[in-house]
Amino acid sequence: MPELKALAPARIKWAVELLDVQPDDSVLEIGCGSGIAAQRILEKLTGKGWYCGVDKSDAAAKAAFKRVHDPEHPHHAIIRRGAFDARNHEPLIFNRVLAVNCNVFWTDDGEALPGVGRLTRKHSTFVQVYEPPNAAQRSKIAHILQERMSPIFSEVEITKRSVGGALLLAAVAR
Ligand SMILES: C[S@@+](CC[C@H](N)C(=O)[O-])C[C@H]1O[C@@H](n2cnc3c(N)ncnc32)[C@H](O)[C@@H]1O
Repeated sequence: MPELKALAPARIKWAVELLDVQPDDSVLEIGCGSGIAAQRILEKLTGKGWYCGVDKSDAAAKAAFKRVHDPEHPHHAIIRRGAFDARNHEPLIFNRVLAVNCNVFWTDDGEALPGVGRLTRKHSTFVQVYEPPNAAQRSKIAHILQERMSPIFSEVEITKRSVGGALLLAAVAR
C-alpha cells in the first residue's frame, strides 16, 4: 500500500488546487520530488485517471515511487527517473501538467516549454508554482515565464500570493 499522506507546504497545496484534477484526468508532474503532490493528486483520480511523475534525481524518483506505488493498481501512478524530455511521452497524452519549484522552465533555454505544449491536449491545464527566495526573484520568474509562454499557450495567467511568509508565484496556461 502507498505511504500515509505527508504534510504539504503551501506551494504544493496551491498547485494542486489550481490543477483542478478530475477523476478521469491524465496528469504529468515534472520534478515530482518525493511525491507529496502526487499523493494529493492520486486521491482525486478516482475514475480512469492516472498520474506520471518525472524526476531527474534518483533519490527523488525512488522516494516518490515508495510513496505512491500501489501494487494492486500499478498503472494508477507511474514514476520515471530522468530529466524531462517530451520525446519520452506520446504526444497529446496529458490533460493536466504540473511543476512545482522545478526551475527548468524559466532557466536554461526554455526548450522544455514547447515540449509541454506538444504533450497536452486541447483544453488542458499546465500549472507551475514557485516559491522563490525573495520578491525580486519572483518578479524575474514572472517576467520570463510570461514572455516564453505567451507564444505557445492560448491563455497564460500569472498570479502572486503570500502564505505565512512564503512568497509564491503561479503560472497557469491553457
Ligand atoms: C526543488 S525540488 C521540488 C520538488 C517538489 N516539486 C516540491 O515542490 O517540493 C525540484 C525537483 O525537480 C527535479 N528537476 C529539476 N529539473 C528537472 C528536469 N529537467 N526534469 C526532471 N526533474 C527535474 C529535481 O530533481 C528536484 O527533485
